[in-house]
Amino acid sequence: MAQLAALGGKPVAPKGLKIKWPEFGDEEKQAILKVLERGEWWRFGVPEIESEVAQFEKEWADYHDARFCVAVCNGTVALMVAFWALGIKKGDEVIVPSITFIATSDAVVLCGGVPVFVDIDPETYQIDPNAVEAAITERTKAICVVHYAGYPCDLDKIKAIAEKHNLPVVEDCAHGQGTEWRNRKVGAHITCGCFSFQQSKSLTSGEGGAVITDNSDLAERIWAFHNCGRPKGVGRYEHHIVGGNFRLSEWEGAILRAQLKRLPEQTKRRMENGAWLTEQLRQLGLKTLKPDERITQRGYYFFIIRYVPEEFGNVHRDVFLKAMRAEGIPVGTAYGVPVYKNPSYAQSDVQHKVMPCPNAERVCAYEQIALSNHLLLDKVNCQAVVDACAKIKANLDELRQLE
Ligand SMILES: Cc1ncc(COP(=O)(O)O)c(C=O)c1O
Repeated sequence: MAQLAALGGKPVAPKGLKIKWPEFGDEEKQAILKVLERGEWWRFGVPEIESEVAQFEKEWADYHDARFCVAVCNGTVALMVAFWALGIKKGDEVIVPSITFIATSDAVVLCGGVPVFVDIDPETYQIDPNAVEAAITERTKAICVVHYAGYPCDLDKIKAIAEKHNLPVVEDCAHGQGTEWRNRKVGAHITCGCFSFQQSKSLTSGEGGAVITDNSDLAERIWAFHNCGRPKGVGRYEHHIVGGNFRLSEWEGAILRAQLKRLPEQTKRRMENGAWLTEQLRQLGLKTLKPDERITQRGYYFFIIRYVPEEFGNVHRDVFLKAMRAEGIPVGTAYGVPVYKNPSYAQSDVQHKVMPCPNAERVCAYEQIALSNHLLLDKVNCQAVVDACAKIKANLDELRQLE
């Protein structure tokens, strides 16, 4: 009788994995009720000291040891207001990694800029600093790095390149809540950092975003732009620049404050389970992203497994995934393809540039396997991942039948 669930055997997790996200309790309920009963559901109905959004901004800045934070309505907008405030305009080139969520490059395009897609490092999946430097032209106006999967990019090398070429750096930290580089949370290491608090992120209010920075001029420009062009402190109908309403509501501010109290413990749990899972998978011949001592705390968006076909009878990664899913394990390939392969770039006249990206192409086609960070919150789920991998490895003849 077959062992593998894909051939009719009993799955490791017959009902799939139980993933509870977001985690919440009385604190969140009380926070929402307080906003409800106060009747001021936007940030301006109450003094700043009482506004949930304003207080969250302060707490989020403090968490990152940053001077300023402006909360906005989502992560895409966070990137857009950052690019706008840095002066990105029609024809300006912004260097971006080829593996990320599409919002990273779309935000450049929505400001009129030209995303220049560069390759990743094959061991860390982060933007390759050498590829960044090779892509710089006289039209380059900014570098945008992504702490992909919650693993930080090499901020030492990126900072050195940025300083050498006098370019600002936007850290897309949508995946990087809790991640530290050399004992400081990612986000304000160079110019500014942009966060998303959309449902799947490890700090969430359903939708939401923020920009952090140590630069007061940049913070002021971002503030005005996100608030219909009003600089801080002017009258309600005084608009000094053309901007938009990209504000966060008090509901989201209140939820984020309550959720932020949980983030340090959740990050610790994800890290502990992530380290355990890494070791178990290593014993089964699977790789993960390269360890680096400069990463003093690891936040997670994806837990990345680097598939090694030689360890699994040389079957293609997608055959392995088919077997894992049949066992009840929710595995994916993250965003599937390098961003520039999406029809919105590949089959359109949107201006963009693609530098050679052999690593990104290979990783997407053959190697990358992604698990959700929420799975890391519960060791039972991590154990199921290991059990499924071990079971598949013990039944390679059956695995080959799935090809
Ligand atoms: C890397 C990255 N950047 C930006 C965003 C955009 O964030 P949002 O969905 O809040 O607009 C996301 C969201 O998934 C993301 O993963």
